[in-house]
Amino acid sequence: MSSTLQRLLSHITFGVMYPSLNLYESMNIPVISTTRPLQFYRKTLFNNLPEETLAKELQAQTIIDIGCGLTPFIEDSMYQWCQRQGIDFYAVDPKVKNGFKFGTFDRIKSYATGAKTTPNPNIGGLDKTIASYANDLPLENQSVDIVISCWLIFSWLRSDAILKEVFKEFDRVLKPGGSIRIFPTPDLEQLNRKFPGLATQLESDGYEIKQKFFMTGNLASVPPSFATFFVKPTDITIPGEQ
Ligand SMILES: C[S@@+](CC[C@H](N)C(=O)[O-])C[C@H]1O[C@@H](n2cnc3c(N)ncnc32)[C@H](O)[C@@H]1O
Repeated sequence: MSSTLQRLLSHITFGVMYPSLNLYESMNIPVISTTRPLQFYRKTLFNNLPEETLAKELQAQTIIDIGCGLTPFIEDSMYQWCQRQGIDFYAVDPKVKNGFKFGTFDRIKSYATGAKTTPNPNIGGLDKTIASYANDLPLENQSVDIVISCWLIFSWLRSDAILKEVFKEFDRVLKPGGSIRIFPTPDLEQLNRKFPGLATQLESDGYEIKQKFFMTGNLASVPPSFATFFVKPTDITIPGEQ
C-alpha cells in the first residue's frame, strides 16, 4: 500500500476518533480501561518477534507500560508473560491499585481486543503495578530501556501541553538509546502539525522518530494507523560540558 494511502487511512481513523473522544469527555465520563494480549503488543511494538526471541531480547531490560488499564489482570497479557519470564516489566495506571471492578463489560472488552482470557481480580504477580500518572513516574532517572503505551498517548491524552510534560517525564526515566513505543498514533506529518510544541521538544532533545503502518480486520483494536518509535540519542550532552 502506498504511503499516501496509509496516511489517508490514518487521517480517517483519527478524524473519527478525536470528535468521538471529545464528545465522550464532554459528558465527564472517565477514560475507559481496557486490556490487550501479549500478541497485540508483540505485533505492534516489538516487530512481531517470535515469543522466544522476544524473551531473550528483553531479558536484561526494564520496560514500563504507561496507561496499562486492566492488562495486568489477564493471564495472556505482556505484563503476566514478562513476570513468568523474569523480565523487569512494570505497568502504570492511576487506577491500578484502587481496584478495577470487573464485570460483563470488561469480559466483552477483553475478547474484543483479541485476548483469550478475561480479567481476574485474584490474579497473582501484581507487585510490579504502579498507581501513577504518565507525567509523574516514581522511577529513577535513566532507569528504563523501553517505554510502551497503547491507546492512551495521542488518543485519550492529546493536548500538546500535556504531551510535552509526559514526554519530558519519559525522557527523564529513559536510558540513553532507550525508546518510546506508542500505538496507535497519527502519521508523522499530522503529529507534527497537531502537536507543534511536542515536535519542537523532541527535535531539540535529538529523538529519532520511525513509524510503521498497521491495518487489520479488528478495527476496534487495530484501526488503520501507525505505531511510532521515538529513540533517545545515545550521545547526550550534559549541560555545561562540551
Ligand atoms: C484505553 S485504556 C488503555 C489500556 C491498555 N493500554 C490497552 O491498550 O488496552 C487507557 C488507560 O489509561 C489510563 N490513564 C488515563 N490517564 C492517564 C495518565 N495521565 N497517565 C497514565 N494512565 C492514564 C486509564 O486509567 C486507562 O486505564
